[in-house]
Amino acid sequence: MARFSFLGFFSLLALAAYGCEAKTVTYDFNVTWVTANPDGLQERKVVGINGQWPLPTIDVDKGDRLVVNMNNKLGDKSASIHFHGMFQNGTNEMDGPSMVTQCPVPPGSSITYNFTVDQSGTYWYHCHTEYCYPDGYRGALLIHDDDAFFADDYDEEIVLSMTDWYHELVEDLEAQFMSLYNPSGAEPVPGSFLLNDTMNSSISVKPDTTYLIRLINYGAFVGQYFYIEDHTFKIVEVDGVYTEPKEASMLYLSVAQRYAILLTTKNSTEKNYPIVTVADSSLLDTIPDGLKLNNTNWLEYNKTASHPQGIVKAADSTGLNPSDDFDLVPYDKQELLPEPDMEIDVTVYMKNLMTGFNYAFLNNISYTAPKVPALYTVLSAGDAAGNASIYGDFTHSVVLKHNDVVQLVLNNADSGSHPFHLHGHQFQVIDRQPPYGPTFYDYLNGDPIPYDPKNHSSFPKYPSRRDTIVLPPQGYLVIRFVADNPGVWIFHCHIDWHLSSGLAMLMIEAPEKIQERVSIPDDHYEVCKAASVPYKGNAAANTEDFFDLCGQNEQPAWIPAGFTKRGIIALVFSVISAVIGIVSIVIYGLADIKNKNLTDFAAPSSDQDEVVVEENSARPTKE
Ligand code: C2O
Repeated sequence: MARFSFLGFFSLLALAAYGCEAKTVTYDFNVTWVTANPDGLQERKVVGINGQWPLPTIDVDKGDRLVVNMNNKLGDKSASIHFHGMFQNGTNEMDGPSMVTQCPVPPGSSITYNFTVDQSGTYWYHCHTEYCYPDGYRGALLIHDDDAFFADDYDEEIVLSMTDWYHELVEDLEAQFMSLYNPSGAEPVPGSFLLNDTMNSSISVKPDTTYLIRLINYGAFVGQYFYIEDHTFKIVEVDGVYTEPKEASMLYLSVAQRYAILLTTKNSTEKNYPIVTVADSSLLDTIPDGLKLNNTNWLEYNKTASHPQGIVKAADSTGLNPSDDFDLVPYDKQELLPEPDMEIDVTVYMKNLMTGFNYAFLNNISYTAPKVPALYTVLSAGDAAGNASIYGDFTHSVVLKHNDVVQLVLNNADSGSHPFHLHGHQFQVIDRQPPYGPTFYDYLNGDPIPYDPKNHSSFPKYPSRRDTIVLPPQGYLVIRFVADNPGVWIFHCHIDWHLSSGLAMLMIEAPEKIQERVSIPDDHYEVCKAASVPYKGNAAANTEDFFDLCGQNEQPAWIPAGFTKRGIIALVFSVISAVIGIVSIVIYGLADIKNKNLTDFAAPSSDQDEVVVEENSARPTKE
């Protein structure tokens, strides 16, 4: 008996030393539309939680159990929550992406997310159902850790979120984006850029004090540069991975990326200093008059002193030289993973399909959601779960073996940069080209450089690790991770426009282990019933024969080989003029036509038949 009480005593001591006992933190999220006008330019509908927007920050300690009860009261829109960067080891069903690990939660339904948080750092949460988070449905998720190596090195904490902001509802923008009028796939241009969901704000600081500043870009599209005039800082965390401290004065955060930095304030309170954010204009097809790419907020030492505008280093990105994330060394010094057991090679393309819209591809597949959430296919497929084909031809599913070292080579045949995120993992970034520099994020009219396994730079001994990484224009990335987290994990470009146009694939990681470990709570199945989404069967919801994919969701048909981009655009405009022509005929047909010369209604342009064959015009080849 004495021994037991000693043990009890020591474990209490251990808990006290650890800081706090693991607890359960519960949030009730009633999701409704509210109105907001964060940039003072336009009031609009936004997704609020408990009647509020900006959304609450989820704040927990490492080891806590987090419970989020989400009640969708939007009335007209389905939703879900993804906790970006959480491993969800053993709780894949709590990951949040619709049609991957759950059904979309329809209006009037609710769902509970419940999992233990076994990691620490700076994260965020966001809606992960088609077209929802750019309407404001995203917030910070912070996991405190008294054992962080820098825990005693700072006095206070500041969270700075940055985001692009649209003045229109995402579904209206989506309709313009995926449209005959946008055959080149130009992404909707934001109306403004916010810091902490507002503009021109002052972050008040004390002199001679060290702050842990957590930076999050929770935008939908545009990466941003960040610096504070006359200040340097130390990077100590990137996407939840502690790093050897690295001095820096400027950062670039693509959407979904995070940093934590230590900044010691000056000892004088005479001046205030601009916090400058610069939107990455290389991502924008057009820059409308009045769109402010460079924004100033202030590190405020003195309320009564002046608040000067930031001096932006250059109008284009050549004057901006952010710290390179490739050479960040993880604090745990995890070494380069051994030679891979499995390699996945994919290339990013942007192409038009027969609908005339522009789609995004990894190789020849533009991700098209299955009829059954892929995790539910794993759970209902028995032994067939190990066969990638049951997940459908258009989900780009790859089955990973438990504990394999996986190498993913990502080439970019597109002239835009793409921030890729893998759910459930932090990956090592072992090669990336072109080399980092001030113009890294810009398309410089080069030819694509594909990864050459026989001729690459030597891999770092302690590679940088994170969960979201920018694939540079026309360049490549090589990442490695261990498949030690059984689950269905989506790998996708975090530009929400590109996710919706197909830039995604699924990792079906250790399906036999998923079947052993994962069970779906009843309320998750209730969501499917309410949404009329099947939760058994293969990608086509076939429960009899898992290899029969008849009826699966498919990407639109290919445009016959031989059409060039010019030909496609000409075709698309011909279709548009034909449609306008027909509409005109109908309208005029209904009107009094006495005075009309019918030959005015021109036939569709003969460009419609233009077929120009060029070498590069072939569709991407099959894997
Ligand atoms: Cu922020 Cu699919 O993730």
